[in-house]
Amino acid sequence: PPTLAELAQRHGRYFGSATDNPELTDTAYTKLLGTEFDMITPGNGMKWYATEPQQGVFDWTNGDQIVNLARRNHQQIRAHTLVWHSQLPDWLTSRDWTATELRAVLKKHIQTEVRHYRGKVYSWDVVNEAFNEDGSYRETLWYKTLGPGYIADALRWAHQADPHARLYLNDYNIEGLGAKSDAYYALAQQLRAAGVPLDGIGFQAHLALQYGYPSTLEDNLRRFSRLGLDTALTEVDVRMQLPATDEKLAEQAAWYADLTKACLAVRHCVGITVWDWTDKYSWIPAFFPGEGAALPWDETFAPKPAYFALRTALGYT
Ligand code: G3I
Repeated sequence: PPTLAELAQRHGRYFGSATDNPELTDTAYTKLLGTEFDMITPGNGMKWYATEPQQGVFDWTNGDQIVNLARRNHQQIRAHTLVWHSQLPDWLTSRDWTATELRAVLKKHIQTEVRHYRGKVYSWDVVNEAFNEDGSYRETLWYKTLGPGYIADALRWAHQADPHARLYLNDYNIEGLGAKSDAYYALAQQLRAAGVPLDGIGFQAHLALQYGYPSTLEDNLRRFSRLGLDTALTEVDVRMQLPATDEKLAEQAAWYADLTKACLAVRHCVGITVWDWTDKYSWIPAFFPGEGAALPWDETFAPKPAYFALRTALGYT
């Protein structure tokens, strides 16, 4: 059968997976990673704690390992992520900064990292998870010290460092219409009107069967598309309470199909990325005890109903 990437390409889309450095020693894992997908996201290797572990000391080991592997496999990179409140190095979080100091630290980090990967990545998640559930700004180090303008600054600095990378804001729980996605819509309108280089919005889509499918996903993607922005499903998984039953796996499969159809139905929804492809390396069990089975392949790399549903939704007959 054709790969998910080949099927997505027939629609002018990509189909990607996240990966992480420790898994790359698993050769059966890297074989499927290298063939089934045409877009790769480093799950941790490009985050601040990994890339600037000491102030001004940059370490590209993990990010480069994934970029080089992807290049050998003719895959593109969705780079992730420059500005986030999580997985920051201790030197950054263990002291106070004046606004002037922190602005300089942020600018240097963004420009050094984006320049390092210039020409090698398709896109950057420039700012990750900037809003609370109610649509107010998340009170991060960045927001508290620099105010909301840090987002426009980050986009401008990234654009200067790599004018060809597509620049995204990325978040979870914004798949459906609601306060949090409205906040992104308002911000995107404002940034576009101000001429800030924003190219797209990433909808992480960490879904859970117990919370229901976001049935307004397609309408939501479409309103961003009408602003002239790309959209992408960037970190898809569909978790469930364990044990997985045939019934839950069938519902999960339907959700994977529905989110794929939503993306295909909206112009400029450029692609779909799963947050790794096998339950063996999913982040879910460690973060949500008792939950899991969130990805299209199981722990033994056997395809689940979700994989077959993805194939069908992408048009394979
Ligand atoms: O590196 C240490 C290692 O030295 C130590 O032995 C081990 C023990 O637990 O922990 C390792 O760090 C872990 C790190 O992943 C690297 O594997 C952290 O504990 C763990 O918390 C961290 O989790 C990552 C998580 O982001 C952090 O919030 C996940 O792998 C990663 O998949 C996840 O990705 C995020 C996206 O960036 C943003 N959207 C949500 C998504 C899921 O949380």
